[in-house]
Amino acid sequence: MLSVDEEDSEIKPKYVMVCVNRRSCADRTSCAALGSINLADALGRIITARKIDVKFERSICMAQCQKGPTVRVAPGGRFI
Ligand code: FES
Repeated sequence: MLSVDEEDSEIKPKYVMVCVNRRSCADRTSCAALGSINLADALGRIITARKIDVKFERSICMAQCQKGPTVRVAPGGRFI
């Protein structure tokens, strides 16, 4: 489901962030409009259930709106 670049796989992730920004204007999409709330709920449950050692955060816009829902694993700066 999630792809990880091989060169980034040596960096241990500390944070997983899911953009849950919602815009009220119809001419620009947002991650929430593309399903990020459900994605964040599911990821949060999985991280907790599997006791994965990362901090999970719901975030504001990460300027990747057209590709959303946006997930970022940090450090490393990867957007998924
Ligand atoms: S609204 Fe999610 S990255 Fe912009």
